[in-house]
Amino acid sequence: MRIIDLIIKKKRGEVLSREEINFFIDGYVSGDIPDYQISSLLMAIYFQGMNKQETTDLTMAMVDSGDKVDLSAIKGIKVDKHSTGGVADTATLIVGPLVAAAGGLVAKMSGRGLGHTGGTLDKLESIPGLNISQSMERFAEIVNTCGVSVIGQTGNLVPADKKLYALRDVTGTVDNVSLIAGSIMSKKLASGSDKIVLDVKMGSGAFMKDVHGAVELARMMVDIGTLAGKETIALVTDMNQPLGNAVGNALEAIEAIEILAGKHEGDLKVVSCLLASKMLVLGGIFPTEEKAMAKINQVIENGEALKRFGQMIEMQDGDSEVVNNTDLLPSAEKIIEIKAEADGFIQAMNTEDMGMVALLLGAGRTKKTDIVDPAVGYWLKKRIGDSVKKGDILADFYVNDEKNLDESIELFKKSIIIGNNPGKKINLIYDTIS
Ligand code: URA
Ligand code: CA
Repeated sequence: MRIIDLIIKKKRGEVLSREEINFFIDGYVSGDIPDYQISSLLMAIYFQGMNKQETTDLTMAMVDSGDKVDLSAIKGIKVDKHSTGGVADTATLIVGPLVAAAGGLVAKMSGRGLGHTGGTLDKLESIPGLNISQSMERFAEIVNTCGVSVIGQTGNLVPADKKLYALRDVTGTVDNVSLIAGSIMSKKLASGSDKIVLDVKMGSGAFMKDVHGAVELARMMVDIGTLAGKETIALVTDMNQPLGNAVGNALEAIEAIEILAGKHEGDLKVVSCLLASKMLVLGGIFPTEEKAMAKINQVIENGEALKRFGQMIEMQDGDSEVVNNTDLLPSAEKIIEIKAEADGFIQAMNTEDMGMVALLLGAGRTKKTDIVDPAVGYWLKKRIGDSVKKGDILADFYVNDEKNLDESIELFKKSIIIGNNPGKKINLIYDTIS
């Protein structure tokens, strides 16, 4: 088999066989096939697409490129949760403790920030002492004790995705349904949970910018999970504005703690509770979402959810007092108020740029070697549809290094579109696919 023949075949829109897909994944991971030929193949896939069979074969070839996690030391049904990525999407920090406090099990391996999107590991590491690198034995022990643990990937999990993702990132081939589905589902299938709940984001801050594409992606991933023998469901939810109010690592940890403590409402809480209720039903803890939701409300009110988060933090070597006193989290030197320059209504937000704003302040990486500042970011005060008067505070910026401050303020103001009317109302939940 020759890679050049596969490139030409896909360029013409023909279907690749399982053997051909295995050939290019194996050849790429082993180093036999160079980046430039895989780049060309990715671009052909980008324009010609892959059907469901090809996407499933791609996913399984990627799973087989590395190790698989064995979670059998954790007794019970483990349900995983995964978001396709967004801004102010801190759901994992909320969903994990909620599910655990309601009787479920969450053994989750999370990632770092990617592009304009935040990463769960970076948020967790804003908690003093917290260690996201735990042995598999300790990971199992933590889940068996408190019902939830969130750690970084261990071992050689899906090396094909590490190489392919880095290449897609620099060849304009990220936002393709089959390539995203293969990337996400290979990691989910390799990381050992029994069932999977996906949160597919749609909008100006997501990889999929329209409902049609997001639903197609959700359907593809649900089908792949189901074919691989793991019950999978997907929500399609809005990312036309940041999901929560906090953007930045410690700020997002604070928002998660406030939601778990029952002190903060909003879209982030709604989506987190919905995801948790679906996980509890999939895990067999409750027969219906209504019953699961009643329990979720109860564990927020009685403090059990917050306590679980504290237990997880403690077992992962962190300072669990943060759940009672968020002043123990890193704080920025300066808070700068960003004010509206006109009267009107918030009509739209460029959410991708709003993610970049936090990156510019130091909350994420613009190159691999950048060091994240846990304290910086911003707290958004307005949502789409809100009326504003000139001089109203749109956000509080939490700032340490002022190097990119002017640029970040300018980008933030440009990202928030103020007009004469409230604009079109946007949904929070678009679809559920099972
Ligand atoms: N997240 C992933 O892990 N992979 C993608 O391709 C897109 C989002
Ligand atoms: Ca400056």
